[in-house]
Parts: sequence; C-alpha cells; structure tokens
Amino acid sequence: MKILIVGSGGREHALAWKIAQSPMVKKIFCAPGNPGIAEVAECVDMEAENIEGLYNFALKQKIDLTVVGPEDTLTAGIVDRFRDGRLRIFGPSKRASIIEGSKVFAKTLMKKYGIPTADFKAFDDLKQAKKHIATCKFPLVIKADGLAKGKGVFVCKTLEEASKHIENIMNEKIFGHAGDKIVVEEFLAGEEVSILAVTDGKTILPLSSVQDHKAVYDGDKGPNTGGMGAYSPVPLITDELQYFIEENILVPIVHAMKKENRSYKGVIYAGLMITSAGPKVLEFNARFGDPETQVLLMRMKSDLVPILLSTANSNLEDVDIEWHNGTSICVIMTSKGYPDKYEKGLPISGLEILKGADNMQVFHAGTSVKNGKVITNGGRVLGVTTIGKDLREAQKRVYEAIQKLSFGGAHYRRDIGSKAILRKN
Ligand code: AMP
Ligand code: GLY
Repeated sequence: MKILIVGSGGREHALAWKIAQSPMVKKIFCAPGNPGIAEVAECVDMEAENIEGLYNFALKQKIDLTVVGPEDTLTAGIVDRFRDGRLRIFGPSKRASIIEGSKVFAKTLMKKYGIPTADFKAFDDLKQAKKHIATCKFPLVIKADGLAKGKGVFVCKTLEEASKHIENIMNEKIFGHAGDKIVVEEFLAGEEVSILAVTDGKTILPLSSVQDHKAVYDGDKGPNTGGMGAYSPVPLITDELQYFIEENILVPIVHAMKKENRSYKGVIYAGLMITSAGPKVLEFNARFGDPETQVLLMRMKSDLVPILLSTANSNLEDVDIEWHNGTSICVIMTSKGYPDKYEKGLPISGLEILKGADNMQVFHAGTSVKNGKVITNGGRVLGVTTIGKDLREAQKRVYEAIQKLSFGGAHYRRDIGSKAILRKN
C-alpha cells in the first residue's frame, strides 16, 4: 500500500513511524513533513492546507489511504474532497469536524444530548456577553467559538479580565471570524485527561487513556501551550471511570452526530476534566492529539494500518487493539519563549546519540535542515518518547535521554507524570 500523511508535527512523525512498521505498507509520503519524518517517509513540498494540491498528488501517486493530522485541514473539508473523488481517507467530513471547529456547536450538542460538560451560555453580541458576565461567579472561562491554534480559551479570575478578553475576541478580532461568537463557561476544577477513540460511525474503539500537560511551566504554571508532555495509561482512569466515559460521553456523542446527520468517522478526542462530580467534557477534537499520539503509538502493539483502513471502510467491528504493558511517556522540548515569541534556526545537537536506542524515539515537530544540520524551526521542537515497565521507570528513562539533547534556550517541563507518581504514594 501507499500512504499519504498530511501535516508536519510530532503527531505526524509518530504516525509515520508507526505506519512504517506495518508489513502492509510499501511507501509513505508526508506533506509537508519534517526532517524526522524524512527518515521513514518521502516528504512532499506541499502545505497541509492545499486540499486541491493534496488531492491531485494522491490521485497521481495512486495513494491507497490518506491520514490527516491537523484540524484546519479537516474543517476545511479535505475528507469531502477526497471522498467525492473516490480516494480513501481517514478522518471526519467537514460537517462532522465542526465538533472541533465550533465550540458553540459542540456545547449546544452536548446540552441537547445530556453529555456531561460545564454550564455555559453562547453569545454573538458583545454587550449581551458583558451583561451576562457581570452576573457570574469567578473564575470563569471565555472561549472563542472557532479554531484559534489552541489559544482561544481564557480562564479569568476577575470581571475585568473576562471583560478584556471578550473585547479582544469580539471587538479587536484577535482570532478573526473565529471570534464572531463566544462561549462563557463555568470553571471546572480537577485533573485533565484525554480519551481518544476511533470510530467508523457505528463501532467505537476507545484508545488507552492519556494525560497531557498543557501549561508551559512545572506545577501547571504559566500560559497554556499545545501540550508539553504526556503519559499513558493514566492510573486515575480506573476501569469504572473508563466505562462511565464510554457509556456517557463517547457512545452518546457518536450517536448524536449521526442523529444530526453529521455521521462521524475518524478519531474522536474527548478532552475531559475529572471533577469531584465525575468526568465532564472540556472540548471535543476531531483528530489525533499532539503529544497524545506519540505516547499512544509507542504503546500500541497492534498494526495501526488495519485500524485506519477499517475506519475508512466502515468495518471497524472486526478490529481489536492490543497494547504493550507498561507506561509510555513523552516530554516536549520547546524553543525559549514559546508559546509567545521565540527564535528559530538554532542548531540541535545530540540527535545521533539517541538514534536506534531501544524503545526510544525522538519525534520531530518544529525542526528543519540547514547545511545538513538539524535546526529549530518552531515552538515545540522535539518530543522525546519512551516506554518503561511503569511510569516511574519511563519517567527516569525519558529524563536521562533528554540530557543528551540540546539547543540554545531549550525548555522542557521537569514534572511530566509526577502528579500520578506522587498520588500513588
Ligand atoms: P479547550 O480548548 O476547550 O480544551 O480549553 C483549553 C484548556 O483550557 C483546557 O485544556 C483546560 O486546561 C482549560 N479549560 C477549558 N475549559 C475549562 C473549564 N470549563 N474549566 C477549567 N479549565 C478549562
Ligand atoms: N494535546 C492537545 C491537543 O492535541 O489538542
């Protein structure tokens, strides 16, 4: 088979690395890819947003299956274009990926179908929104409706703060049309967990639990990022909780989408807060998570390709997923200053030391090559990923490995997985 992966981050490197292990696969392309991906796939100089270009490429190269990473490409309708042109693709349609593309849509749907989530109100009028927050308890959460590269959510401690963010989103249009509407939402306290599942719209196959660490600094301090590190499985998610999440969140959302004539195929990713009153949905994503995918694929024993194919072919009922024992962990190295401004083009050293190490992968995200040397080219640069017999061993291994890598101003959290280790003692 020939496979095309769309995207250029650590998630896409993990997908390429796992797909390359499948005996079913002869050739992998990735558009646009990155230097790490180039070790297992042929990178194609084409942006992930160029849907027509990607379609023509897939048609010409006789691609058997296309796998899409980024949400923007999904909400822009790549899946519809490929299906209309009779090409096989893994992911939700434009109508279905609105579950991530519009928070107002997702929240309204959850309310309609009784899926546990924070109380909220949606607004398309600035004055009304401001009037409402004057009656609310704080902290309070303000969310831009549309896609905002993970930056559209504000946890506000005061009325002034909330008011400023509403102004910025609805008046200053800092996220463009993504801020035409907003959600004002109750603050939920608890621990965050990501539960992903693959579904063909009928069968739902949950993946193992993952905990991401969103804040940039240790102890969950500082601004939120795309994700600073993750581990899987999450001991907090007992079998009982997992069952609750499947029965009360995953099954109802897939059914709800079908009922709304937005039949869902691909990965459904539930970002959850485990509150004292049980799991509640913070958001749904229409794609694989990053860095969730890195740790999930490190632990996945099964071949990923039949899972992706059966989803696209609507026969997922025949598929099972096996996992390696133990715990996987990924720690993200970022450029100094991320998630705000950062420098690019700094040489990275130590990659060759970790190459070929057992059960260890350095997934590339924001990297590039200059004069034959790998350099930094983004906020999240590398995802050092490994597996151990338990979380403690995995954590020790990952932090030993990360010592071997360096670039100017490199930053990483020192406490990925620590909350779970401390809780167990
Ligand atoms: P979202 O994109 O909706 O998942 O929000 C991004 C991040 O903001 C989440 O991962 C949480 O850390 C935080 N967040 C979102 N909604 C809430 C909420 N209702 N209560 C507390 N934190 C939240
Ligand atoms: N790790 C968070 C996300 O993929 O949205």
